[in-house]
Amino acid sequence: MGSLEGKTALVFGVADHHSAAWAIADALRREGAQLALAYMERFEKNVRKLAADIPDVKLFVCDAQSDEQLDATFAGVREAWGGLDVLVHSIAFAKQGVRFTDTEREDFKTALDISAYSLIAMSRRAEPLMQARGGGSIMTMTYQASQRVVPNYNLMAICKAALEASMRYLAYDLGPSGIRVNAISAGPFRSLSAMGVPGVRTIFDQVEEHAPLHRNITTEDVGNLGAFLASDGAKNITGQTIYVDAGHSIVAG
Ligand SMILES: NC(=O)c1ccc[n+]([C@@H]2O[C@H](COP(=O)([O-])OP(=O)(O)OC[C@H]3O[C@@H](n4cnc5c(N)ncnc54)[C@H](O)[C@@H]3O)[C@@H](O)[C@H]2O)c1
Repeated sequence: MGSLEGKTALVFGVADHHSAAWAIADALRREGAQLALAYMERFEKNVRKLAADIPDVKLFVCDAQSDEQLDATFAGVREAWGGLDVLVHSIAFAKQGVRFTDTEREDFKTALDISAYSLIAMSRRAEPLMQARGGGSIMTMTYQASQRVVPNYNLMAICKAALEASMRYLAYDLGPSGIRVNAISAGPFRSLSAMGVPGVRTIFDQVEEHAPLHRNITTEDVGNLGAFLASDGAKNITGQTIYVDAGHSIVAG
């Protein structure tokens, strides 16, 4: 029997089979969880194809900038399951290719809204559904550029710093309800979003050269950590940023 048998999980952020969200969804399902996927309308075709083999999967189109769509998604989860055990936040957006100092106010607001505020908006809606289950596990995806400069990561790094701090405050607020909130800080992997970051190939080379394990991670590594964080094995882990990066973040230079 899998460690998540009988659990329900709502996963935001599947764009295609390279998405971290897909790897986590796959690992949750492997451990026995029932799945709901919430995704941007433009990825409908990809998501329906990936979801075709998942028994009883629930699908929701949801733009995280829309309160109405967020409300409808969580209402759909309540209707389907009456509660929720696991919430995966694996979404981000920031305008690329702009010198950091030239960041415009509107681009800053949009990036923070989609990449950081959305975790708060989703966690608030998940709270009563998780309370109905006696607790739950919320996880989000971050990157070490929140802590030190990674050239070209720019505005997204500021989003990740806000996201990690939000994760800690959510963990503090929701802990008394038995709801844990953590962040997975992943090393670079080849997804639609990552390949849009200028110079990303250099980062893959740097990881191979400098990380203690001298290799890049896979989305399967992210999925395995996600399944662990969702499980009772992680029952006393909350408010943490946990690195799955072949050790790259410990090395200076
Ligand atoms: N790929 C990497 O190297 C890497 C490393 C560390 C952390 N991350 C983080 O992992 C998470 C997932 O990214 P990924 O690399 O799997 O790429 P991805 O492109 O597969 O996923 C990004 C997702 O964000 C969603 N999204 C964007 N705007 C949205 C909105 N307004 N509403 C709802 N969803 C929206 C997209 O639809 C997409 O599904 C992101 O938070 C990313 O920053 C990625």
